[in-house]
Amino acid sequence: MQAGNVAIYGLGNMGYPLAERIGRQFSTQVFDLDSAQLKRAQEAFGAERIASPEMLADTSIVVLCLPTPAVSLSVLRQIAPHLPTGAVVLETSTVNPEHIVAEQAVLENLGIHLVDASIMAGVGQMVAGTASLALGGNLDAIAKAQPVLDAIASKQTNFGPLGAGAAAKVINNAVAHAVMVVVAEAGALATAAGVDSAKLIALLSDAQMGLHRPLTYRYADRIMKGDYDGGMPLDAARKDSVLALQLAQTLGVPLFAIQGSHSVYDMGVAAGYGRDDYAAVAKLWADWGCPTVPDPATR
Ligand SMILES: NC(=O)c1ccc[n+]([C@@H]2O[C@H](COP(=O)([O-])OP(=O)(O)OC[C@H]3O[C@@H](n4cnc5c(N)ncnc54)[C@H](O)[C@@H]3O)[C@@H](O)[C@H]2O)c1
Repeated sequence: MQAGNVAIYGLGNMGYPLAERIGRQFSTQVFDLDSAQLKRAQEAFGAERIASPEMLADTSIVVLCLPTPAVSLSVLRQIAPHLPTGAVVLETSTVNPEHIVAEQAVLENLGIHLVDASIMAGVGQMVAGTASLALGGNLDAIAKAQPVLDAIASKQTNFGPLGAGAAAKVINNAVAHAVMVVVAEAGALATAAGVDSAKLIALLSDAQMGLHRPLTYRYADRIMKGDYDGGMPLDAARKDSVLALQLAQTLGVPLFAIQGSHSVYDMGVAAGYGRDDYAAVAKLWADWGCPTVPDPATR
């Protein structure tokens, strides 16, 4: 890859350390609305300020790390006509697949490729070099951008077609945020019930216990194989879930996520899945036309 050909748009909390990592290996061009950040990048790693998009005529890789999908699209509309054919844009901002599709529509007629490269990490991990990227897009385009992707993060997972990396990132965050609420509720219940917090944390950290098993056993094994025989019946899981709601009522602890989840067990029993292993809640999503695995093995 030639020097002087990586342009980075967005030098914010995440964008700056990302640009700094690229700047250690490549000569960079940078743009941000914040002139202090531009000056910082110029002084720290010799980045060239992009005074106008005409300066991108020899730029083969563009990295976006911008605050909203609308800003990414607006920046691309301004710069795309000035990029050389064959350039690759890496969208590292957190966006949805529909935004990736809209960005692709701006680029494809110009012969410019797009790769979604969502950042699966916080700022500290980006600084420490332990971030990972969730990729989606054309393999040739990914190969062309590989040295820059490697400069950002050595750990990368290719999730497949354009937009799949962005979707994986959004799903990962959705899981983290939902589990955060469940964990907060669990802590409140435990504290009210006199269960030691540190011991609760140790219990839920155990790979064989409630936090991990639904994913690592029930999804990864049972749902993937469509195997709902034996195990813990959905009826019994519903009964235990009733006990948790009763405990919360007795102790006066408000529940939201755990209470909402209980309704799914009611629906599973109503659908006739009471004697299946409780992983059979996945069958409800298959019944609704949204199977949890591509193969309708959940049936
Ligand atoms: N901060 C994190 O921990 C983190 C983690 C993963 C992903 N992300 C994603 O990375 C993206 C950037 O995050 P951040 O934390 O750096 O955000 P930020 O708000 O700190 O920075 C955004 C930067 O974009 C600049 N900007 C706004 N409009 C611009 C434009 N038209 N042209 C050029 N620059 C412009 C702003 O001046 C600002 O410096 C977001 O999509 C975010 O969701 C952030």
